[in-house]
Amino acid sequence: MRRAVLLALLAVLTGALAGAAQPARRSAAELMDVLMWNREPVGGPFALVDQAGHRRTQADFGSKILLVYFGFTSCPDVCPTDLMEIGRLLTLLGDRGEAIQPLFITLDPERDTVERLAEYVPSFHPRLIGLTGSSDAIGQAAAAYKVYHERVPLGADDYTIDHSAFIYLMDRSGRYVGFFPPGTSAERMMTILKPLL
Ligand code: NI
Repeated sequence: MRRAVLLALLAVLTGALAGAAQPARRSAAELMDVLMWNREPVGGPFALVDQAGHRRTQADFGSKILLVYFGFTSCPDVCPTDLMEIGRLLTLLGDRGEAIQPLFITLDPERDTVERLAEYVPSFHPRLIGLTGSSDAIGQAAAAYKVYHERVPLGADDYTIDHSAFIYLMDRSGRYVGFFPPGTSAERMMTILKPLL
């Protein structure tokens, strides 16, 4: 009898834990380790909204080569620098770059609305697509790409977001190839990408 009660209690507890499905936040070091040594798959399906307000999923990009970058529009330095290089890469490649689709996925969906992305994204390249969504949808995409991100308060009602800033390269079949570290030049990306075009 006592054993049965215990088992029932365990079942309830396990159910409660499973229901709370929010995965524990992983540290920057752990995520870096996962990426560096390919310990887990990277990438996967997402369901977000682009800067024109259209729903976008991984399937919309068919057999494109994806460059996937996570950041936020108020990022003072790292994000704009990397996005500028991605824009420059597309300009350098011209028509040869048609197979490449760069995606900017915000880690700050609260402030990075569709309207805000519509102002921000085209300044880097007309072909750059910005994506936002519910905080759950963004969280799932970030977790799939092993992105570290942490909201850091700045005073009473402002915040910034600490985040890893890698440019993920996904091949035409949606498989993860590798990542470019922050600060990678357009020329370096072109060297790696050319054999895939
Ligand atoms: Ni940033």
